[in-house]
Amino acid sequence: MPDYTRSLGFSFLEGTKLSLRDLFRDREEIAPAEPFKRYPGARRHGLPRPRPPRADLFEVLARRRSERIYAPTPLRLEELSVLLWAACGVTARAGRYLLRTAPSAGALYPVETYLAVHRVEGLEPGLYHLELREWVLEELRRGDFRADLKEAALGQGFCATAAVVFVWSVIPRRTMSKYGSRGVRYLFLDTAHIAQNLLLAAEALGLAACPVGAFLDDELNELFGLDGVEETAVYLVTVGRPGR
Ligand SMILES: Cc1cc2nc3c(=O)[nH]c(=O)nc-3n(C[C@H](O)[C@H](O)[C@H](O)COP(=O)(O)O)c2cc1C
Repeated sequence: MPDYTRSLGFSFLEGTKLSLRDLFRDREEIAPAEPFKRYPGARRHGLPRPRPPRADLFEVLARRRSERIYAPTPLRLEELSVLLWAACGVTARAGRYLLRTAPSAGALYPVETYLAVHRVEGLEPGLYHLELREWVLEELRRGDFRADLKEAALGQGFCATAAVVFVWSVIPRRTMSKYGSRGVRYLFLDTAHIAQNLLLAAEALGLAACPVGAFLDDELNELFGLDGVEETAVYLVTVGRPGR
């Protein structure tokens, strides 16, 4: 067993530290990637205009807990739209940048949002991708993927009993083309901002939610058709009506 200082993780932290000296060194040459992902042939499902309810931020912060027990009642499409908007909706334009509810290093937005829909009124169960410029869901696969989600999440049953599972992937080139390997830190920071937005929004809507970092990368990527190289899943959040 390597000690902390001999671990791969420590080497990564050491190797991606920023120092004044590095600022004048040659950058790693990494080609960029398209800033937006879309699935041209996919069936599109328009999302309702998000209408977030009023909520006291500090009460919401004090109440938020990871909840893993869900009622069988479905979510409404309006609620899903508010959750997606809170997580990563566009709130302003600055030149060619579409600024969002969550910050992003260099405004490069490496995170893509996918959904495993189990029970949402007005949406067939299946796997979807968010096209956030047009506010539509692109249908990737229709069907019941509850067992696949549970299996990919190391058998965690609440990934099957949730009404919907948010799955975030990153496209590393978007950020690494500017920041090199240090940009890998930013991929996870960006994702965490989005996830916390969602967790707080779920709380404000009276819904239950839980973040999930324990999953089999290759299995989850394969389920959503991600190659695991140019794009890879990094984080999940389950959402449903509270079951207790
Ligand atoms: C990065 C990360 C990964 C997590 N992964 C899991 C997970 O795989 N399964 C799970 O049941 N909870 C997971 N959690 C939830 C934590 O267990 C939970 O946040 C922690 O126990 C504190 O409880 P609270 O969220 O209710 O405050 C994760 C939380 C974070 C931040």
